[in-house]
Amino acid sequence: MTGATSGIGLELFNKYVEQGYDVIACGRNQEKLTELEPKAKATMRFDVNEPEQIKSAIQSFEGNIDIAILNAGDCRYIDDVVNFDGQLFADVINTNLTSMGFLLQNILPKLSANGQLVLVSSSATILPFSRAQAYGASKAGLDYLANSLRIDLAPKNISVSLVHPGFIKTPLTDRNDFPMPFIISSEEAAIRIYKGVSARKPYIHFPKRLTLLLKLIAWLPDIIWHKIATKGLSK
Ligand SMILES: NC(=O)c1ccc[n+]([C@@H]2O[C@H](COP(=O)([O-])OP(=O)(O)OC[C@H]3O[C@@H](n4cnc5c(N)ncnc54)[C@H](OP(=O)(O)O)[C@@H]3O)[C@@H](O)[C@H]2O)c1
Repeated sequence: MTGATSGIGLELFNKYVEQGYDVIACGRNQEKLTELEPKAKATMRFDVNEPEQIKSAIQSFEGNIDIAILNAGDCRYIDDVVNFDGQLFADVINTNLTSMGFLLQNILPKLSANGQLVLVSSSATILPFSRAQAYGASKAGLDYLANSLRIDLAPKNISVSLVHPGFIKTPLTDRNDFPMPFIISSEEAAIRIYKGVSARKPYIHFPKRLTLLLKLIAWLPDIIWHKIATKGLSK
């Protein structure tokens, strides 16, 4: 499990351990990984933006992986769209999307027959949000990746679950300075993900009062969302 050192991943780590799973906790924060060590099967410290670190960490593990939960991610906003920050854009795309290629390259050969891949994207991909050009684009790419992987991995009996959380209270969203409707706890998010993955659901989204509302708006003519999304932006 990547991103096991904080927020949703940390709660998922606790949930899977509580259910008797042997969990490999991955992250960068050594202090947190050391704390998880007594409950984990193993801990792996790597930066998902460093392909060589991913390779040596995962190759050092000799067993098979039944469920790979790829949850590590970052959210940063484009605050000044006219002075577009290309480096921020590249950093977010690399952390949330490009890294997935190197993770898959090392994990897929170790995935058990009948194994599962779980990719944590975001409900932000249902509609375009202000300032979310980098985050939204990275997660939209992740959606395509998951949905396309599902087609090619089905004949190998590997199922792919795409996760679309709404707003979840974590250190990542603690940085947000805007209202987050229907926000839920990371414990609740972990329960939803655990249940969905156990049922091998292809698509896990929650809380439904947010995701279904976003889907309804996405189904309406584009002009309606454009008006809602731009309200208050023009001075
Ligand atoms: N919170 C929400 O409302 C929400 C909504 C939709 C989707 N999501 C997605 O859910 C996932 C988890 O988010 P969260 O809210 O739990 O965030 P979080 O509390 O900030 O945790 C992020 C995790 O990702 C790891 N990580 C980040 N960058 C990394 C890197 N370069 N290399 C290795 N690990 C890295 C962090 O590890 P270290 O701290 O050890 O570096 C940490 O464990 C993300 O993919 C996020 O986009 C969150």
